Amino acid sequence: MSSVFHPSNDETINPSGNASIRDVIEQFSGRRTFLKGTLAAGVLTGLGGFGTNALAYTPSPSPGGGGITFTGVGPNRPSNPGGFVDAITVPVGYTCRVLAAWGDAIGIAGATTNYNPAEPMTEALQLTTFGQHNDGMHFFPFPVAGARAPSSDRGLLCVNHEYVDPGLHVNSAAYGTHPLTAAEVAAQQAAHGISVVELRKISGAMQVQRPSPLARRITGNTPCRIGGPAAGNALLRTAADPSGTQVLGTLNNCAHGYTPWGTYLTCEENFNGYFGAPAAQLAGAPLTTLETRYGISANGFGYRWHEQDPRFNIRTNPNEPNRFGWVVEIDPWNPNSQPIKRTALGRFKHEGAWSVVGADGSVAVYLGDDERNDYMYKFVCAGTFNPSNRGANRNLLDSGTLYVAKFAADGTGQWLPLVWGQGGLTAANGFADQAEVLIKARQAADRLGATMMDRPEWVAVHPTTREVYLTLTNNNRRGTTPASSNNPNGTTTAASARPPVDATNPRVDNRYGHILRWNETGSDPTATTFAWDIFMECGDKATSLTPPSRYQGNILGDDLGAPDGLWFDKDGRLWIQTDQQGDGTGDWVNIGGNMMSVADPATRQVRRFMTSPRNCEVTGVDTTPDGKTMFVGIQHPGEDWAPGAFTSKSTWPDSGVNGPTTQGGVVVKPRSAVVVITKDDGGVIGT
Ligand code: FEO
Ligand code: CA
Ligand code: CA
Repeated sequence: MSSVFHPSNDETINPSGNASIRDVIEQFSGRRTFLKGTLAAGVLTGLGGFGTNALAYTPSPSPGGGGITFTGVGPNRPSNPGGFVDAITVPVGYTCRVLAAWGDAIGIAGATTNYNPAEPMTEALQLTTFGQHNDGMHFFPFPVAGARAPSSDRGLLCVNHEYVDPGLHVNSAAYGTHPLTAAEVAAQQAAHGISVVELRKISGAMQVQRPSPLARRITGNTPCRIGGPAAGNALLRTAADPSGTQVLGTLNNCAHGYTPWGTYLTCEENFNGYFGAPAAQLAGAPLTTLETRYGISANGFGYRWHEQDPRFNIRTNPNEPNRFGWVVEIDPWNPNSQPIKRTALGRFKHEGAWSVVGADGSVAVYLGDDERNDYMYKFVCAGTFNPSNRGANRNLLDSGTLYVAKFAADGTGQWLPLVWGQGGLTAANGFADQAEVLIKARQAADRLGATMMDRPEWVAVHPTTREVYLTLTNNNRRGTTPASSNNPNGTTTAASARPPVDATNPRVDNRYGHILRWNETGSDPTATTFAWDIFMECGDKATSLTPPSRYQGNILGDDLGAPDGLWFDKDGRLWIQTDQQGDGTGDWVNIGGNMMSVADPATRQVRRFMTSPRNCEVTGVDTTPDGKTMFVGIQHPGEDWAPGAFTSKSTWPDSGVNGPTTQGGVVVKPRSAVVVITKDDGGVIGT
């Protein structure tokens, strides 16, 4: 095709020749490009579908695989000559360098100080610097006056900061007994949330623009509005907020999404881990089924925040956890805008929120609940996307229908509506109204008999066919004994069931995960039926586990396991990021550490593009619109550091192996960071 998005050196694997949906959306992700709405509406209408009324899964047209031509890198493992490499390795002809790491100044005016990792982090410094443990992210390109294509030289990078490693934050290797202070808790809360960073290509290299009026930190204490049907519900009211409409902060911002109208979505995943209460308080008021279904416990994940901040004490403030577990919409172009928790999309451990636009402007958002045995959801907006009036889309995510997936063994599936009064979602069964259906979405889905999944993580929607791909990262309870299922009455403790294998989750002790895909009937994002198949069973062809057939997988090409991040580039290459232990030991001696690979969705061939530092996770990926500058996240390098030795597992990135950092080669702690990957010949990444 001929498009500014597809330069001549790009061997596209877009099979249709149509403009990709992502191309179209990106035209509208800037501020002023909304004025060109009629053009986009025409393109959307012209996209068409690829199949109708499928009763069984039909793969998309073959792209031929011609677009993936780099020479793959080998696995990173201790048995290699030279041992495990504590660095990012990319193919010959590519370069990777660090863009921003935890504690780097992000360009807020007057705040130029970078964090010194030899010191504890403070709230004041964290509020002007890159948060910890970055995860999902999206690049919003600036519009270019008079041009159809947005800029590939300037944009806003929105980055999630999923969680903190408290020991690294307070500079104590013994966090469990550390004399925690309220100031240290506040500093950790400030490390969560989102960084909005302006990027600019300067002297040929993408860099953080410092200062920028658009640079912003949103944290675990930033005031957020609650929107949608659950706003104001009694279960969301607290002493500090009797209205039930204003929450302090967003937490555990895992993966992400973006809307056709140019806003960023950040998703609250393991929010339960921050809450707790002393045993004495719990003795008189034991955990409720609502709490246990969402994994709330006495000590959470050990953050200890409730010791210093009563907001996180589940008996002092029992409704505060109900105010987390939502999808939050942020307008990156307005640094004064208030983030909004969109309750219509349900409350669960949201992995991410991936939108798709139908031929008629309808909008659906795919939502995974990442917990063993939890569910896959879809939200369909009641309204349609208006490409000519950005303001008209402002509250599209407040009205619509939330569905949960039920997969049938014959390769079909249904989206079951979570609508009060239907399917037993009634007051008699514990749902007083639609707000309670959304606040207790897991329990509503239990009642409807949704399919228990092997941890739904990222979704990627094919840019031209709207085919949906989903990573299911693992489930060590699948097929184990004694078999049990989530109770229809919502009383199951999170992740405690042991479901038998089924057609969609077919492996006992699913250590390596798989990737599912489906086509909505008629290629219509609003359809309530679909056809699915398993795209890939991940595994280790050389496994020594028994029986081998359970763990070998069926990957054509380079093996991988625990798929998590998943993303289609503009040309239809499917990028896969992994989240396993990351040191190449145990189940991973052959596969090695974590990686990012790329698959051809038609041939299913997989090639390893990148390997990562030790004990990290690779998560978060996007490119500039021209596909020539890629952003990739490295999260928690060196995690599981031995007491007293933060750098015992990793010295990345301040070792300088992937370019200089703000620390100038002084290594004190490993730091999560976003890197930039470019091709040395200036070409599209992945070719
Ligand atoms: Fe935060 Fe499910 O990964
Ligand atoms: Ca993830
Ligand atoms: Ca993860």
